[in-house]
Amino acid sequence: MKTIVIKISGSLFYWERVEDGLPPIASVVRKAVSKGGSKLVVVAGGGETARRYIKTGRKLGGGEGLLDDMGLRAARLNAGLLISSLGDLAYPIVPEDLGHVIEAVETTKVVVTGGLHPGHSTNAVAALIGERLRADLLVNTTDVDGVYTSDPDKDKSAKLLPKVTTQQLRDMFGSSRMLAGTYELLDLVAINVIERAGLRTRIIKCAPKEIEEALQGKAVGTEIVREA
Ligand code: UTP
Repeated sequence: MKTIVIKISGSLFYWERVEDGLPPIASVVRKAVSKGGSKLVVVAGGGETARRYIKTGRKLGGGEGLLDDMGLRAARLNAGLLISSLGDLAYPIVPEDLGHVIEAVETTKVVVTGGLHPGHSTNAVAALIGERLRADLLVNTTDVDGVYTSDPDKDKSAKLLPKVTTQQLRDMFGSSRMLAGTYELLDLVAINVIERAGLRTRIIKCAPKEIEEALQGKAVGTEIVREA
């Protein structure tokens, strides 16, 4: 049986799109479990709620650790929305630490979680879970089609990379400051864990079709490869 970790982009968890956006993704997850018999763990991003708490908390003088804490709790709330849309298929509790995730995976349910600890993003959560479970695949969804040569929102000539090495990712994203709510497409913790665990990883668009294709093993988005 394959073990797959899917990170659902925080960009889905905005109030104007989440209600319509989640059910088609839940259908893809349902199909993958019933067809392939895969074990799935899903990690929800923090999205709008995390951003709002972090922004307001920072204005009010909150420290980065506290702001991270609010962000990771927002991601847990979003995990609750995912559990709602998966119904009986989902493990009914949002695990709050890695040990609980591992215990919950022993049931036949789809485990859905959000943030775990301050100091990293939910992408790192997905990588850490993938590492502990020796997952066959980590599918990391985002608001663009994958990893580009530069930010496609700012640079029209940006090109999608079909493959990227962990060192290239460190060069692209590794120098960012660790401020709550500002972690890049992939933060250093996520990149380093993917590398040390040799986790097969794809960065794809957060859309049902792309997720379905990635779960079928198709070459969609960007594949992360380890340094040779
Ligand atoms: P996300 O990493 O989900 O940010 O968590 P996001 O930008 O909404 O998601 P993506 O990357 O676009 O999918 C929101 C914030 O919560 C804190 C961080 O401050 C992060 O920026 N967080 C989250 C933690 O501190 N620890 C965690 O385990 C998860």
